[in-house]
Amino acid sequence: MLTDRKDEHLSVVLGKLHKTSGKSTGFEALDFVHCALPEMRLDDVDVTTSFLGKRISAPLLVSSMTGGPKRAASINENLARACEVLKLPFAVGSQRVAIEEGGIGGLNLNLRTLAPSVPILGNFGAAQLNRGFGIQEALKAVEMIDADALYIHLNPLQEAVQPEGDGDWSGLFEKIVAVAEALPVPVAIKEVGSGISASLARRFGEAGIAIIDVAGAGGTNWAAVEAARIEDPDRARLANAFADWGIPTAQAVYGARAACPDATIIASGGIRNGIDIAKAIRCGADLAGQAAALLDAANTSPDLLIRHFETTIQELRVTCFCTGSADLLALKTSELQHRNGL
Ligand SMILES: Cc1cc2nc3c(=O)[nH]c(=O)nc-3n(C[C@H](O)[C@H](O)[C@H](O)COP(=O)(O)O)c2cc1C
Repeated sequence: MLTDRKDEHLSVVLGKLHKTSGKSTGFEALDFVHCALPEMRLDDVDVTTSFLGKRISAPLLVSSMTGGPKRAASINENLARACEVLKLPFAVGSQRVAIEEGGIGGLNLNLRTLAPSVPILGNFGAAQLNRGFGIQEALKAVEMIDADALYIHLNPLQEAVQPEGDGDWSGLFEKIVAVAEALPVPVAIKEVGSGISASLARRFGEAGIAIIDVAGAGGTNWAAVEAARIEDPDRARLANAFADWGIPTAQAVYGARAACPDATIIASGGIRNGIDIAKAIRCGADLAGQAAALLDAANTSPDLLIRHFETTIQELRVTCFCTGSADLLALKTSELQHRNGL
């Protein structure tokens, strides 16, 4: 049943069958101040950075996605191949079924063989920690794909509107922290499109969780995705009421950075292109993550993914050039204006 549901999610997002969030990321309200005289060579713009101890070619991460086992296997393989060529990190979708039933959906060490040099992140939902998952399952998730870190995702809205969702979120903060303390690789915390508030980011930061992916509002909204597949009209109405819910990504990034000055902050949720990545970096993120915007390519071929990434990275490089920023450090202090002039 879970596998069917994951496959339906994939079909809904690929077929663009869901109403997109009426809320935007907040990046559209921000404009870089154009630099008419960059005084550098475009080819010398350096957007390389490090993540999880590895050098990567750009601050761009493939956010967790999944599907039914068949499609997930080819998506994961395409991602591994493309990310290895371009030296980009990627996260797999939820490993819950693979943990419960053995490494399915391409979630096995073949992934590491295809992508030996880039950071790979595992993934499962926090709600599983109230359903029997603990450190053993977290270790299994990491070892199954030789992951560099493990994402634990927070998706209370999706669970609340899903007819078969997990409503018991009591005591989860302590359980997440206990897994993070026991696991030999870092735990990264992420939302799935409704954002992480500054106060929650601070709690995680103070508890030693040093990677926070805000996954804010403005892109994929899981209430809207669920509404598109729920047959009961009353439940669909409930889900649709939350289609605009959440903290816009730009606001969540500002908040998380202010709350956790030393953490690795990942901006995701509605990242459309390299200009959004640049704005996210300028707002305080270290990396930006994309899911829905690259799903079509991930579902097609490594070559299409490579083309998608190359264009996105070039957009980031041009943004650096046209703000007079030679690298990401310079971009962080480039001039940014609110579109309404504030
Ligand atoms: C088809 C699909 C499947 C997803 N599955 C997962 C998942 O298994 N675990 C998870 O943490 N997030 C999952 N996500 C959420 C994304 O990682 C991301 O946080 C969210 O989609 C917002 O980013 P976007 O606006 O770029 O899509 C999924 C997203 C999509 C589009």
